[in-house]
Amino acid sequence: METKIILENKKQFLDLLLLADEEEHMIDKYLARGEMFALYDGDLKSICVVTQEDNSTYEIKNLATYEKYQGQGYARALVKYIFEYYKNKCKTMFVGTGDSPITIPFYEGCGFRISHRVKDFFVNNYKYPIFENGVQLTDMIYLKIDL
Ligand SMILES: CC(C)(COP(=O)(O)OP(=O)(O)OC[C@H]1O[C@@H](n2cnc3c(N)ncnc32)[C@H](O)[C@@H]1OP(=O)(O)O)[C@@H](O)C(=O)NCCC(=O)NCCS
Repeated sequence: METKIILENKKQFLDLLLLADEEEHMIDKYLARGEMFALYDGDLKSICVVTQEDNSTYEIKNLATYEKYQGQGYARALVKYIFEYYKNKCKTMFVGTGDSPITIPFYEGCGFRISHRVKDFFVNNYKYPIFENGVQLTDMIYLKIDL
């Protein structure tokens, strides 16, 4: 496995970015200032975008693995790489996600713990309702880890 830092043409990964964040105008709010990581195992498997929120606080804004490669440990390996990459400059890393039975256990398995909730974030910021397994996502759940 190899992780590359992507500095240019981050939109080449739009198909993956849209898996984790369905509306491009929302991706545009963080993509330019975010650091992008791409995990390859032969071909591309997963991407992640991390932003700096203040001096020692960072946030995972986007994390996705191609559907056919999910459940094989790629996203967890990428998160581990990111923890190593940021551990000297980051005190706390956050991640925000929908109230989802897939993503919350995934992040907890990576060591994150639930921090707080932003009520109706998805309703107020996205043009179209977002459904996962037939359930509409409304609140943003933030998880955090101290590195
Ligand atoms: C969430 C996501 C990034 C996980 O990627 P992945 O490469 O499949 O994750 P991993 O294979 O590293 O999974 C690690 C752990 O998460 C859990 N997990 C991952 N996918 C899961 C699923 N569909 N259902 C239940 N648990 C799951 C497993 O417990 C797994 O642990 P294990 O190694 O003990 O089996 C992937 O499902 C995805 O791209 N989803 C669409 C985009 C998205 O929702 N992104 C997150 C919002 S920012």
